[in-house]
This record gives sequence, structure tokens and C-alpha cells, in this order.
Amino acid sequence: MKGLILNNAYYETPSTSYQGERLAAELKKLGVSADIKKNDFFGAEIKDGNLENAAAGYDFCVYLDKDKYVSYALEKCGVRLFNRHEAIQLCDDKALTSLRLANCGIPMPKTVPGLLCYDPSAAVLPGIYSVLEQKLGYPMVAKQCYGSLGKFVYKIENRAELEEKCRELKCTPHLFQQFISGSAGRDIRVIVIGGKAVAAMERKSKTDFRSNVELGGVGTPKEIDQKLKTLCEKTANLLGLDYCGIDILYGEEGYLLCEVNSNAFFGGMERATGINVAKLYAEHIAAAVSSGL
Ligand SMILES: Nc1ncnc2c1ncn2[C@@H]1O[C@H](COP(=O)(O)OP(=O)(O)O)[C@@H](O)[C@H]1O
Ligand SMILES: [Mg+2]
Repeated sequence: MKGLILNNAYYETPSTSYQGERLAAELKKLGVSADIKKNDFFGAEIKDGNLENAAAGYDFCVYLDKDKYVSYALEKCGVRLFNRHEAIQLCDDKALTSLRLANCGIPMPKTVPGLLCYDPSAAVLPGIYSVLEQKLGYPMVAKQCYGSLGKFVYKIENRAELEEKCRELKCTPHLFQQFISGSAGRDIRVIVIGGKAVAAMERKSKTDFRSNVELGGVGTPKEIDQKLKTLCEKTANLLGLDYCGIDILYGEEGYLLCEVNSNAFFGGMERATGINVAKLYAEHIAAAVSSGL
């Protein structure tokens, strides 16, 4: 059995390298060899009307990228992707994730996808401010739909900030969300592999409402109680994920789903909990490929 571990060619950091190297090492211990490559070979080429299989010769691909064109192409060529293309696509876009999980019994903050404007010179419709204020109140949260590591998540305190953010984001996919005050500067990250919640940490920041480790949040091990387990496993199952990191907020009446990361870094979780996440993921991959699932 031979696998391809694929990274984004433009985004190389110690965390992305760690993911691939740790997975390759754990797969090797199971007798599975894997090549780590960057996707700078144009993996979605259509030639004479047909797709070229960029992963020919490999039994599976651990897709550590979010580029939906390459994931679509590889899957269309019959490659087993971890995660699968549809799951990657649903998680890449925060509004799409929330819409997919709506009506499925998943508690989440009140969420309003932003109105998309296609003309950068157009003025923001003035009526939308009061609608958002009525629905969400201040403070509220705005997020770009595509973003991670807390980079494009903003807290809005008043009308002036809302106007500015609407101007800035009007042509970018974005959403607005109720601010969950009980979760200010703290949340829970849970790793789910093959449908099982296997590791969790609470992340706390002393300096920011966003608790991302990359922004200074500090992780400590968190017990996975039954409610947390059920919520996270159901979410991963609905999205069809082999592997994910789920962010959970502390709502007044219990846990609330914040977002789902199909490519969650596991280094911080391994350090905080001592759980070998790469080994668990490698075992899931090897078992799924050998049983044809
Ligand atoms: N609605 C919210 N209320 C309070 N805090 C939030 C809310 N949404 C996000 N956060 C905080 O911001 C962090 C980053 O938001 P998240 O949606 O996970 O985006 P990213 O993909 O950038 O991590 C979360 O981990 C959480 O600490
Ligand atoms: Mg997050």
C-alpha cells in the first residue's frame, strides 16, 4: 500500500511540514509508505477532454490542502482522499458548513451569511445595519468564510465598526454571528478521527477573544464528556469527515458548534494532551484503505 501526502505549494510552515512528516512516520510504522509532495504540478489538468490522474500509482492521498479543484480532480480519477472532496469543500467555507449542519440538531450561534455584492464601487445598503443589530446585537462577530488560525474573525462593538466591516467585506464571502460572551477568550478544540472523538483541549487566551493557539491561546487537556462527544461525532459524521478538528463554544445553555477544520493542525493537541493524533489518523487511513472504505 502506498500513499501520497499532498501539501499546498504556497503555504509551507513548520506546522504544515509537521503534519505531513508525522503522518508519513506513523504510516511507515504500519508498513505503509507515503511520499510527501507539494501540489505544484498542476493536479487538475484536463487533456484531450479528460482528467490526468495526478496521483496515479498511489492507493490513497492524504490531502493536507484545501484547494477544491485538485481534490475534485483526484477524486474524479478514483483516488481515495483523506478527507474526501465534498467534506473538504463544506469545511473550507464557514457559511457552507453552518448551512449544511442547520436543521440537523447541531446547536450553533445565531448565524447570518453576509449579503454578497459583486461591484466594489457599490455603497453598502444602509438598511442592513439595523437588520443585523436586531438579529444579533452588539457585540457581534464577523468572519470571512474562508480563513483559519483566527486571522479573519472580528469582533464588532458598535454601528461605526459594523459599517466599516461591511464596507471591507461586501465583496468577500463572509458571515455575521452572535457573540458568545461565555466563550470570550476560551473554547474547546476536539479531534475526531473515523467518527470517534479522540482528543480534546480547552484553549484559553488572556489577550484576545479568539483562543486560537496561533494567536496566543494556551491548550490544556479537556475531558470529553458525553455531550461533547455526541455533538462532535455527529458533526463529523454529517460532514463526511475522516479527520477533523472541531471548535466548540461555551453557550449559556451548553456547547455550541463554532467551526470545523478539515485540516486541523495536530501538533498543539499532541503537546497539550500527550495523545498521538498522527498515529490514530494513520491507523484509520490504513484500515479504511485496506477494507476499501
Ligand atoms: N461567535 C463567537 N463568539 C465568541 N467567540 C467566537 C465566536 N466565533 C469565534 N470565536 C472565537 O474566535 C476563534 C476563531 O474563530 P473560528 O470560527 O474558529 O475561525 P478560525 O477558522 O479562524 O479559527 C474561535 O476559536 C473562538 O475562540
Ligand atoms: Mg477555529
